[in-house]
Amino acid sequence: MGAVEVKPGIYWVGAIDWAIRDFHGYVTPNGTTYNNYLILDRHVTLVDTVKHEFCHYTIDNIKGLTDPAGIENIVINHIENDHATSMGEIMELAPNALIHITERGKKGLDRFFDTSRWKFRIVKTGDTLNTGTKTITFLETPMLHWPDSMMSYVKEDKLLISQDGFGQHLASAARFDDEYCDQCSTVELEHAVRDYYANILMPFGQLIKAKIAEIQKLGLEIDMIAPDHGVIWREDPGKIVKMYLDMANSKADLRVVIVYDTMWHSTEYMTIPIMEGIKAAGVEVEVIKLRATPMSEATKRFWESRAMLLGTPTLNNIMFPTVAEFLTYLRGLRPKNRMVGAFGSFGWGGGAVKEAYAVFKQMGLEAVEPGVEVLYRPGPEDEKKCFEFGKQFAEKVKEYHQKF
Ligand code: FEO
Repeated sequence: MGAVEVKPGIYWVGAIDWAIRDFHGYVTPNGTTYNNYLILDRHVTLVDTVKHEFCHYTIDNIKGLTDPAGIENIVINHIENDHATSMGEIMELAPNALIHITERGKKGLDRFFDTSRWKFRIVKTGDTLNTGTKTITFLETPMLHWPDSMMSYVKEDKLLISQDGFGQHLASAARFDDEYCDQCSTVELEHAVRDYYANILMPFGQLIKAKIAEIQKLGLEIDMIAPDHGVIWREDPGKIVKMYLDMANSKADLRVVIVYDTMWHSTEYMTIPIMEGIKAAGVEVEVIKLRATPMSEATKRFWESRAMLLGTPTLNNIMFPTVAEFLTYLRGLRPKNRMVGAFGSFGWGGGAVKEAYAVFKQMGLEAVEPGVEVLYRPGPEDEKKCFEFGKQFAEKVKEYHQKF
């Protein structure tokens, strides 16, 4: 795929990764793109690069427009490997380019490359770069989602190049939101946004709200948001900003997601009466088995729901390994404003449910205790107990949901 003009004189010159299914442990069933942008102005400027294995794509795209030797400026918004590891090849082609980067970005880039011959300009929020007829203003966005991160705003085009922010892992022929919605569906695009947010940006909700407020206070007019992954928001950039604000404000559906794993189906049997109890309370319920579902998908569904019940058998007095792994992953994402509970079967002394509650408390989640445990295999009395547990949990979720 060749370059695509996104604004007069500004081109997408990135690469499409149709095949990636594991993005540093995060499952990407739809692949992804590495977007970068070339500004053809009096001073030719490249904004970001791409993942190393794809550098020939961006180089070919650039060569289709201009001689890379003429690139005078390179803006590095983010040094993570999927965006900056082509810098070696790019700098061989454009050795005189001045690299505009945050101080933390420079420190990171120094660890990946021998930068001793490269020219740098350290930038911070409010600094600008004039490319001839266009002015780029830099906006630092530390911890959104790395310490070095920043965004680049092109005033004349009302264009925000937003690096990872507002991205989606979607490989597609569509470069723009409206094209994607025509070819595929709006629902799929929204799913991709939530998946990306839940697995990458969930810990940073407060920072996201503060940064959006800062952009609004600066009065930046934005009619296009161009992230470094997925489609560019040109039809309605306000829509993605609103989605981010909703997620940062912990918006969720009134639903309980049951996430479980099982050794000999006993914990699995428990999900049925628990699910029936939740339904009896008039609350939507969804059931996910961990070994049948990518962890990132389970995380997205957790994030979309107000509450989760975690089902774990006891193995050697602790949680079943896949459940422990999921909970560890979730703990790192620092979710907020979600109600949780746990259940599971055991054969000897138990311990998994107790351990799950201990982790819930560390995470500061709204835990409903006690959970429910069953010896070996649920009998009729256990099934009643599970039904009541699900029903009472769902009643509490309804009440809790009112707060948001
Ligand atoms: Fe797409 Fe933080 O890298």
